[in-house]
Amino acid sequence: MTWDDKFSLDAGSINASEIRELLKILADPAILSFAGGIPDPALFPMDKVRQFRERMVDHPNLDRQLMQYSQTEGYEPLRNWVATKTSCKNTTLTKENILITNGAQQSLSLIASALIDAGTPIALADPTYLGALQVFGCRRPKYLTIETDNDGLIIDSVEEAFKQKPKFLYTIPDFQNPGGMTISLERRQKIIELAHQYDVIVLEDTAYRALYYDNAPPASLLEIEGDFLGKEQWDQRGLVVQLGTASKTLMPALRVGWSIAPRALINKLILLKQACDLHTSTVNQILAFELANEILESHIEKLRDVYGERCKAMIDSLTRYLPNTVNFTPVKGGMFVWLNLPQGMDARKLLEKSLAEEKIAFVPGAAFHANGGGENTLRLSFSTCAPEVIDDGMKRLAGLIRREQ
Ligand SMILES: Cc1ncc(COP(=O)(O)O)c(C=O)c1O
Repeated sequence: MTWDDKFSLDAGSINASEIRELLKILADPAILSFAGGIPDPALFPMDKVRQFRERMVDHPNLDRQLMQYSQTEGYEPLRNWVATKTSCKNTTLTKENILITNGAQQSLSLIASALIDAGTPIALADPTYLGALQVFGCRRPKYLTIETDNDGLIIDSVEEAFKQKPKFLYTIPDFQNPGGMTISLERRQKIIELAHQYDVIVLEDTAYRALYYDNAPPASLLEIEGDFLGKEQWDQRGLVVQLGTASKTLMPALRVGWSIAPRALINKLILLKQACDLHTSTVNQILAFELANEILESHIEKLRDVYGERCKAMIDSLTRYLPNTVNFTPVKGGMFVWLNLPQGMDARKLLEKSLAEEKIAFVPGAAFHANGGGENTLRLSFSTCAPEVIDDGMKRLAGLIRREQ
């Protein structure tokens, strides 16, 4: 008997994520890692978590409620908080538009179950978030990849894809993972027009939206669609579904994220979530809600200061040290910088040398491409290293690239 013969077609199509495999190598403390793309744990608001724990002990009734089963839709005050925070000029959201999930990752998974059958065409940026490719991939869709530049999705390429009638477009408009680019306002407006012209759902993943270090990103696709449709039309006619998360602004181990969607879709996602895990951890949702109310805004300001310095350090060092055969996204937000190496240079081989000779890790870019390609690309993250460490790391990496080209 081999297990491979027993797996379902969906399970058989799932592959190990390159990043997860890489994280195992990174357990070596001698490696300087620009691979992870995780928040810096030194910035987690531990004082507030401690206070929350103490309050739990002081209030035995609250303590018991925290540990109880709860409704699938999520903790009502948290749903109301998301609805209020995200409502915009022409679209008033209510808790009926919100489902709390185990991170944005579960939102992706539930939406994939709701919308993708084997062979269903879906459109996404090339490159795009690896975790989304993993979720979508195990439902065996047909990928329609969209070209990108420093202003995000290229509109002609979006229209080409939409002509092939994808079920949805998945996009991360702000400081994309992995490419770092932000979609310009003009392109956002055009994407909404095209979505309605071709009747394509738009999944807007806002994981990095709050992490801007210069100007705030343009209006969200949800907001733009509200203006496009007119006053309070979105719940009936909206095509934009927005995903959010507390992972990048608070702490990923909370596993608190959410889907914002017209009620017809939310009702289906609730049933799918119920079948999957009943509900998201009650205690974590209540903690996320308390943190969101008490400290989120000031905490995000702090993250912007610290990550902003690191982002600038990376961009400055790359500008100083890289040969002009390499170009990169000039990002001012998120956690990532994307490099295009000279044609013919293979980032996987470069990583092997980099680990052996410089003890520096990054993520080779090929895995972020749904239909292959991108062998000469790589992703760097600046979120966990101090500016001087980033400078030293980029100098050594650039030296290696010069030697290899
Ligand atoms: C673009 C994007 N979406 C979603 C996620 C998943 O986040 P969560 O921790 O909320 O599941 C990530 C995590 O890295 C991400 O980069």
